[in-house]
This record gives sequence, structure tokens and C-alpha cells, in this order.
Amino acid sequence: MQNKWWRESVFYEIYMPSFKDGNGDGIGDFKGIASKLDYLKDLGIKGIWLTPFYPSPKVDNGYDISDYYNIDKDYGTLEEFKEFLNKAHNLGIKVIIDIVLNHTSSEHPWFKESKSSIGSERRDFYIWKNSIPNNWESFFGGEAWEYDENTKEYYYHAFAKEQVDLNWSNPKVYEAMKDVLKYWIDFGIDGFRFDVINFLTVQDDLNVDNPFDESGEQVHKYDKNQDGVLDIIKRLVKDIRDIKEDIFLVGEVGSEDFNELKPYCGENLLDVVFNFNLGSIDEFSIEKIYKEILCMNEEYDEKQIPTIFFNSHDMGRSITRFNPKGNCNGIEKAIAALLLTTKGVPFMYFGEEIGMQDLVCYDIDKMNDIQGITKYKLEIAKGKSEYEALKLSNKSSRDKSRSPMQWNNDINYGFSEAKPWINIEDKKDKTTVEKATKDNKSLLNLYKELIKIRCNTTALLYGDYEDLILENDVLSFRRKYNDIVVDVVINFSNEDYTQKIDKIELLNTSESNTLKPYDFSIYINKL
Ligand code: GLC
Repeated sequence: MQNKWWRESVFYEIYMPSFKDGNGDGIGDFKGIASKLDYLKDLGIKGIWLTPFYPSPKVDNGYDISDYYNIDKDYGTLEEFKEFLNKAHNLGIKVIIDIVLNHTSSEHPWFKESKSSIGSERRDFYIWKNSIPNNWESFFGGEAWEYDENTKEYYYHAFAKEQVDLNWSNPKVYEAMKDVLKYWIDFGIDGFRFDVINFLTVQDDLNVDNPFDESGEQVHKYDKNQDGVLDIIKRLVKDIRDIKEDIFLVGEVGSEDFNELKPYCGENLLDVVFNFNLGSIDEFSIEKIYKEILCMNEEYDEKQIPTIFFNSHDMGRSITRFNPKGNCNGIEKAIAALLLTTKGVPFMYFGEEIGMQDLVCYDIDKMNDIQGITKYKLEIAKGKSEYEALKLSNKSSRDKSRSPMQWNNDINYGFSEAKPWINIEDKKDKTTVEKATKDNKSLLNLYKELIKIRCNTTALLYGDYEDLILENDVLSFRRKYNDIVVDVVINFSNEDYTQKIDKIELLNTSESNTLKPYDFSIYINKL
């Protein structure tokens, strides 16, 4: 097994506006993140994933890029990014950046030129049709085709109408994006997270309607995973690796279905894709988690490494999803153990390590996320009451997990000063980094210990599973690498579980052989 730096790392997603404000304007920035690198080093993570930081009108919080070569003024300057990057590298932390190849902002000069006239040189950078060729719906809801008054044609947008899909059947788009990637590799970054990479529109003939499922929801059959997309990805991967061999390439293939995910990762392809099978679990179910872990293990070949995550900026926080009433019962500790002992590349989301909770929005005017806002409008149009529409839009809205990192009690609760939100948690008992640092038994300190154990134990980084078993809601498995074995037991049941112990303990949340609900133990042994 070839050693790779990213297989030995725990990654930490930083949602740019919410991690740390360094200049007092209420919005996170590079200065702020740089000031917290020591905290991240101490936590033990070795890789940071930054959400988009490029200039953007932020219709979709930066996933609508208007300049691929610069930094949004909210987040700082190229020099500040460089300073942050150098500091991270000096601390042994690598940085992967989010890149959106599928679409640009409608404010991008390419699109402005494209829509200026039918004969414009960049007309074919985007997908224009003189009539709507299909029934495709945008992923945020509503039609995926938008009429342009000026040139009297329709353009395609898989997401918001301000996120215009590029035409990947045009070789000039490939060349333009290759230049962008080269620029950031030369800048010194260590990897890319390719946004919605399986959505690239590579087919010109779009005269095919998507089907609907029994509940009337559109099935996105023809607007993603099109024939030809894999060829483009393979070419991109090769071109990138020719510039920098050990770069880490992560694909966001928005799916939980292994058949859809598998073709995108492995030899000569992306290193990993995000496995949404764990992240998208709404209600906790150890049976479901177990089934997914088994599946990842069986379906992937030995060059295909799973990713493990329960949280990101696109979903509600798992601590809230798994404890809807907000009274934490310890499950978050068991989840941390699972994240950091199973096979794959673990990705954490900022705030997960202190148990930050979701927010609820009580006023539609204060909602920020395009997905939630669109949902609200669609529900009102269907005749739902404002209250019902707000409730449903809260479900869709991703703002809930995007509130500022709770460093200490001084931090404002809301998403930003202008957009106050309400936290489910009792304000007085708010978890903060300051509090968690002082408490030996805090989730934060548990994460630190678990990350250290993972990174220092080859069997946890590279070992295969043996005896992956779920019995009476107690999950147990062995990870084996050469002659070292690590045994993990996590008690997800409501009852005590007593185990036989004859090995060397790495970490045990119980002081005896008996694991109470959500306790776990990790043992190491030499065969
Ligand atoms: C990805 C991002 C998400 C964004 C979408 C469109 O799924 O994670 O936040 O809205 O792409 O770019």
C-alpha cells in the first residue's frame, strides 16, 4: 500500500464567512483563520478544506464565482491568503481549495460577454438554446432555463439563475479552467475539492426530459453523469498531476449511490469522492450506518478509498439531527469515535468538535441561503401558509449549520449582525471553545485524543477490516495492518455492554470492562 499524505490526515472544513473574523466586520477572513491555525494544529488536523473565497456576488455564498484569480474583499487579499498558506504549511497543515468548474456567476466577465450578443466570441462558453429543450429543474427548485431579454434565448443553470452552467463541450472552456487550476497549483495549494463535478454539461443535444418518481419529484437522470464527463475528469486529473504529482483531488459527486460514485474515484481518477451516505442520514440509525460501512468496504476496489463525514455546510449538523431535542445524550462522542476509527479519509466540519448545534430561522427576511429562500417562495406559490412555508424552508435551508464558530461567549449568536438567527441551544449553556478547552471531559478534548490516536496508528490509517460486526447495536471491528491490530467497540445500544479485555488500551471512555450506552473502547495488539 502506497503511503499518501492525505491518507494520514484528518481534514477540517472551514466555511469561510463563519470561522474567524480577523478585522471586526463580522465576517470570517484569512487574517482570522491564520490567527486560529495554532488551535487547529493543537486539534491535530492535518488538512483544511476552504469553501470558495473568490470574488462573488454570494447568491450562493461564494459558489457563484465572478473572478477565479482573486480573493473576495470580505475575506482579504491574495497576500493574506499567501501568509495564511505559508503559516499553515509551516505547521504541517495542508490546504485544499474549493473550485467550481460547473458554473460561474452571472456577473463573471465571460457570461457578461456571452450574453452581450448571439455572435459574441464567448457565446459558446455557456449553454444557449432558442427554445427550452427539456423539462429540467434547477437543484434549488424551479426551472433550469432562464430567458435573456437581450438576445431572446434561454441559458441553462443547474442551480440558481445567477449560477450559469459552462458549456464543457466547448474545448475553450476546458483550456480556460485548466489555466485557473494551474494558477492555484503554482500559488501553492495542496489539493482541490471539485464542486458538483458530475454535473458538467458535456452533451450538446439536450432534447431529453427527466422522469419523475412516484411522489412527483423530478429524477435528475439526464442532467448529471452525462456521457463524456469521465473523459474530461481523466484529462483534468492527468493535466493537474503533470504539474503537481501529490496533489489531493476530491470530487463532490452529490450522491449516496455507490453505482453513481464508484466510476469517479480510483486509479487515474479523483483520489476520493464524498460519500454522502453517512452525511445525509436524517435520523440516527446504527443499522443504516453499519450497512453503509459494509457497502463502502465491499463495493470499492483497493484503490478506491471512502470518505467519512457526518457534517458539512450543505446539511444540518449531525448533533442536532441525531438529538432533535437538543439535549445531547453522548451520541456525539460515539460518532466522533466512529469517524476517527473507520476506514477512509475523515472530514470534520468546523464546530463539530465542540458540539455546535443547528440554528432555526424565525423570519424569512433573515434567511440567507438560496435553497431555503427558493423553497419558501415555491411553497407560498403552492398556497401554503407563511408559517408552513417557513417551516419547510427551514428544512431545506443550509443556513442552519453555517453560524459563526463559537470561540467564546462574546460571539454573536446570529449568522451575521445583519441576519440574527436563533439557536436551538439554551444561550446560557452555549458550548464554546473557551469552555471546552478547560474541561477535560469535553467533546473537544475527546476529538484531540482520537485524532492523535488515528494519526499515530498505522492500522487505523491503512488497515483493512476484520470482523466488522453489529450485534445488539454494539458495533465492533478490527483494523489490521501488518502484524498490528486495533480493536474498536462502540456501544450504540441503550444497555450496558461488558467485554473481555486482554489487550493494551489506547482509549476507553469507560473505567471498567463495561461500556455504558455510547461508551467506546480502542485496543491495540501485536499478533
Ligand atoms: C455544492 C456546494 C453547495 C452549492 C452547490 C452549487 O453542492 O457544496 O454549497 O450550493 O454545489 O455550487
